Amino acid sequence: MDHFLYRNGELYAEDVSVADIAAAVGTPFYLYSTATLTRHYQLFDDALNGMEHMVCYAMKAASNQAILKTLADLGAGMDVVSGGEYARAKAAGVPGERIVFSGVGKTRGEVRAALEGGIRQFNVESEPELLVISEIASSLGKIAPITIRVNPDVDAKTHAKISTGKSENKFGIPISKARAVYAEAAALPGIDVIGIDVHIGSQLTELEPYELAYRKVAELTELLRADGHNIRRLDLGGGLGIPYTRSNEAPPLPSDYGALIKRSVGHLGCEIEIEPGRLIAGNAGILVSRVIYVKQGEDRQFLILDGAMNDLIRPAMYDAHHDIVPVLEPDAGVEQQPYDIVGPVCESGDTFAKNRMMPPLAAGDLVAFRSAGAYGAVMASEYNTRPLVPEVLAKGDQFAVIRQRPDFDEIINRDTIPPWL
Ligand code: LLP
Repeated sequence: MDHFLYRNGELYAEDVSVADIAAAVGTPFYLYSTATLTRHYQLFDDALNGMEHMVCYAMKAASNQAILKTLADLGAGMDVVSGGEYARAKAAGVPGERIVFSGVGKTRGEVRAALEGGIRQFNVESEPELLVISEIASSLGKIAPITIRVNPDVDAKTHAKISTGKSENKFGIPISKARAVYAEAAALPGIDVIGIDVHIGSQLTELEPYELAYRKVAELTELLRADGHNIRRLDLGGGLGIPYTRSNEAPPLPSDYGALIKRSVGHLGCEIEIEPGRLIAGNAGILVSRVIYVKQGEDRQFLILDGAMNDLIRPAMYDAHHDIVPVLEPDAGVEQQPYDIVGPVCESGDTFAKNRMMPPLAAGDLVAFRSAGAYGAVMASEYNTRPLVPEVLAKGDQFAVIRQRPDFDEIINRDTIPPWL
């Protein structure tokens, strides 16, 4: 459920007219709903009720500081995967003790910055990383809290590009080697082993892969405890999928997921962390774009938008489907027609949808890409020297621009010309 609904014949974000925002901000732009972000965070928080827990929002999904602050004010922690994300979370006011550092290639600089600024834990993904963290922590006179990310060799049954829990994926250490690596970790001077981490993939639409992975984590917890490790925290990753269309079957709810967590690892008495990103931000954001031209091709009509693949890469990159709806509510019973919906970038891959049935649209009309809040703005680029899309946050009847559209000078002046030119 989200808060982008038609009212009085036009699309609203909570109590603000999307067309009014478009008039004020220009198009394209991303638009988020505070109430939807809040609702989704609360669903996870409630799902883990009764267990000591922290919902650490995977901020890679949508990392604007206004979004981070909205969630942090509700009690969320953050899952970060780079020094930049760490700095951004801190800038948004998230204390270090609520920041978890994930990622397969943390640099020495990133490790040092996190240790100096405060960190809840590192989720370690390899033996060399373990040595680096121990060495840097020792040099700073600190002990780094860590979990080790295990790769449970479970098929998440999702798109290959976002599946992370199979042995052929680069993530984590093989679960079969876990006991040896935990023994190595425990012997290092700068390391405090506190738990286990697992994340098997993104946009999971079934609970079964989670169940398989979490059962393996539960078994490993008992083994590691028997080996003498004080395992007291389990980071169970993110990945719960969202409905991208109204018609397809809804993925499991956070409450089902919470029940599964209780069933599979609840008896261990560990503190639970989860790292959802998409489910919190995905349906809390839309991308609003304007039709530039309607072009009649040989055998089809093209709807050419001012938004492009550089603004929303998911269709080009993963063949992802996003519902695209007109901002003005179509009259009931209006006859739909097929369009190929494209952007202005000079590649055929800049296609959002083929043969998509839409009510008749004309140049100047506004459309909204639904479910664009996660992995939308954060994956945008300036390809074709197109400015990064602004971001807007709605709350009740208010809205605020939370990232301005850069002007061309700002973009162009980043280049420097060498002295020999
Ligand atoms: N934790 C870790 C360690 C992750 O790698 C990820 C996502 C998450 C949590 C959050 O997963 P979520 O709850 O958002 O599914 N760009 C792709 C998705 C990439 C996901 C990467 N890792 C997309 O647009 O579908």
